[in-house]
Amino acid sequence: MIILGIESSCDETGVAIVKDGHEILSNQVSSQIDLHAPFGGVVPEIASRAHLRIIDPLTQAALQEARLTWQDIDGIAVTQGPGLIGALLVGAAYAKGLALALGKPLIPVDHVEAHVHGALLGVQQKSDSGPDPGQNPVRDIAATFPALSLVVSGGHTNLYYMASPTDFQLLGYSLDDACGECFDKVGKLLQLGYPAGPLIENLASQGDLERAQKTWPMPLMAPGSALEPIRFSYSGLKTFMAQTVHKHQKKTQVDPPSWGQDLWDLCAAFQEEALGQIVRKTKRALVLRPDAKSILIAGGVAANQRLRSMMAHQIDRPCHYPPLSACSDNGAMIATYAFYQYLEAQKNPSHNPAAYFDHRWESYSRYAFKD
Ligand code: KG4
Ligand code: ZN
Repeated sequence: MIILGIESSCDETGVAIVKDGHEILSNQVSSQIDLHAPFGGVVPEIASRAHLRIIDPLTQAALQEARLTWQDIDGIAVTQGPGLIGALLVGAAYAKGLALALGKPLIPVDHVEAHVHGALLGVQQKSDSGPDPGQNPVRDIAATFPALSLVVSGGHTNLYYMASPTDFQLLGYSLDDACGECFDKVGKLLQLGYPAGPLIENLASQGDLERAQKTWPMPLMAPGSALEPIRFSYSGLKTFMAQTVHKHQKKTQVDPPSWGQDLWDLCAAFQEEALGQIVRKTKRALVLRPDAKSILIAGGVAANQRLRSMMAHQIDRPCHYPPLSACSDNGAMIATYAFYQYLEAQKNPSHNPAAYFDHRWESYSRYAFKD
């Protein structure tokens, strides 16, 4: 089954074509970072207009890259939320128009859950830059589920138990900032630029954890039973960093980018705790759900190599990640999630993907989940 997936929830337009839920035939992403950079954050109206300009040419480019015609597409998947409402509307209206014109099913999916499906993606068929080192294709669904999954992005730090690719049970979430958001805010304090995650990772790789400050706050580490709910917290770590940076700035009288080794050490210590929290909560979740056979990790922070190495050393389950090209927002994860929703709907007619969400999508769609 070949699904065209459309993503437009924030500042990236993504259109991808995915075969059978794992084989990427095309994954076109157009980032708006440069448009929003002068404003220091995403401007919703600019985002909507940029999606509108690019969505059709990007779809044509995806078809061309996959060497397919409209007749080859079996279904249209689209992010239905959460996201910026104007931006979502562009993708939803475009997807509905396509589904209507082609007479194909329209499959709306949840953006945050879809991130996890990035980790079920396989090898990119055609790539100019050779194999993606992040790829770790999951072929055997029975050996993968039940699974724990983590969405660690700029907007979310969610931990789920998944009985199957479509059965999400939220076990944990952040009480305040998201992990990626914390990287970005700390990056701002350190005057590093946006998005700061990859920059901090790069500086941290030259840092010496032994030399770095030892008294790091470890949020939500109070002794509790294994049954205590799993919660993340990043605002305390951010405040601790603000105070540390301020003190060091006062002492040295220079800005963070000129701190050299001290900056690298600080980044290493910060990164260790920001990621350490993810590893600790995953261990706790495994106590609650020991039947989980694997861990699926997605979202922008999943690109972090230190996170991957900590998980590999400390978690005794196979960990699967999206290809590096599919960690951030993209249409391929949308198409993959839609593939499993479609399969589920075919197996079980009472399965109604729209039931997971707030608004009644089926009332917008003319098409039932059938051939
Ligand atoms: O998934 P994503 O595009 O975010 C949302 O859709 O919300 O991920 C973006 C986030 C940013 O906060 C960015 O700083 C962070 O992921 N990020 C990283 C790395 N690469 C991206 N954080 C830590 N290490 C990285 N290598
Ligand atoms: Zn996202």
